[in-house]
Amino acid sequence: MSIDFYNQNASSFYASTVEVDSSSLLEQFTPYLPKGGSVLDAGCGSGRDSKRLIELGFHVDAFDASAALATLAQQLLGKPVRVATFMQFTSTLQYDGIWACASLLHVSKASLPDAFAHLASMLKSGGAFYCSFKYGQGEVERDGRSFTHCDEALLAELLTGSPLVIDKVWLTTDLRVGRENEQWLNAVLLKR
Ligand SMILES: C[S@@+](CC[C@H](N)C(=O)[O-])C[C@H]1O[C@@H](n2cnc3c(N)ncnc32)[C@H](O)[C@@H]1O
Repeated sequence: MSIDFYNQNASSFYASTVEVDSSSLLEQFTPYLPKGGSVLDAGCGSGRDSKRLIELGFHVDAFDASAALATLAQQLLGKPVRVATFMQFTSTLQYDGIWACASLLHVSKASLPDAFAHLASMLKSGGAFYCSFKYGQGEVERDGRSFTHCDEALLAELLTGSPLVIDKVWLTTDLRVGRENEQWLNAVLLKR
């Protein structure tokens, strides 16, 4: 459902997000990475954050379930962006970091533990996993997309039995102009 939305609205979504300044979020994540380390951008959308991570000297692989957005991100990055869902994506690489900015929020609550576990299987031991969700609890459908809202308690519940442990959680407001009253949960998880 959400993937159809992104395919049908790829140009407008790209235009409204590619210039968003996400540096305050990236700055919370990159100190966990070794110099020149590898990052997987999971649900990369426009490719904005992959671009910045590449500029910072990291090796980045990016994928997105929307073929239309993957095409636009590929143009931005000048390198292949795979079309895959979180559960379909596989890699022989073990990454130093996984960046899932506002993307896992489209996975149902029931499927999130498997999505976290599958992505974590491609993360090195000690590696860092950033994720963000709209703040709260509950599953909602809005404008052709489904969202799982998440707060600190739900995140801890979703990670029960997973190799990922919460290292840092913080709240932010939406970075897009006019949406400053929307709250987000941000977290960096570490793989044991
Ligand atoms: C709100 S956008 C965020 C995009 C980008 N990470 C950013 O911060 O601008 C959500 C992204 O997740 C992708 N997505 C949705 N469901 C997905 C899934 N099951 N597997 C992989 N990507 C998915 C969408 O196509 C979209 O690009």
